Amino acid sequence: KRIVVLISGTGSNMQAIVDACEKQQINGEVVAVIANKETAKGLGKAADRGIATHALSHKAFDSREAYDAELQALIDTYQPDLVILAGFMRILTADFTRHFAGRMLNIHPSLLPKYKGVNTHQRALDAGDKEHGVSVHFVTEELDGGPVVLQAKVPVFEGDTGDDLQARVHEQEHRIYPLVVKWFCDDRLALGAQGVELDNQPL
Ligand code: GRF
Repeated sequence: KRIVVLISGTGSNMQAIVDACEKQQINGEVVAVIANKETAKGLGKAADRGIATHALSHKAFDSREAYDAELQALIDTYQPDLVILAGFMRILTADFTRHFAGRMLNIHPSLLPKYKGVNTHQRALDAGDKEHGVSVHFVTEELDGGPVVLQAKVPVFEGDTGDDLQARVHEQEHRIYPLVVKWFCDDRLALGAQGVELDNQPL
């Protein structure tokens, strides 16, 4: 399967997925990594591994629609089977999400439906939550609202800072995202009319 990954920053999830493809744990290949910022650290890491990279800055566009249309066209040149959002910090237009419906995944650092949006680790701490975690979901037009495929939970300890929690969550991200991508690339995972299907069974 052909995979395009979108990032805005470090790209550690992107790297975890590239690693799993190289080890043939995932039956797929990351054919391009695209960032909305030239400064995204993950771009250099992907280029070092021989992957095509693009920085498509949103700053050069007048509207969200115009940017997303250009991004969609760029992604489509790679004819991907799967588009992966891995720390891509943009709100997506409905047209864009519809175009990639059923073939776009996101990872969100909370136990959805809790804490959609940003600052999830601090919000979990502020709420006094005893557990926190991360979710992989299909992308729909509702921000962080698409059907969840897999979650991992982590404990919240007394005295944890946001950074502690983030590090604990990141470890789990690097486990569950490659696993979900593997399921998709093995044709085991799909978004059906009733929601997520794994091995043709509703989740
Ligand atoms: C991750 O915490 C992910 O859940 C969130 O953005 C972060 C990206 O981290 N959506 P990285 O760039 O993959 O290291």
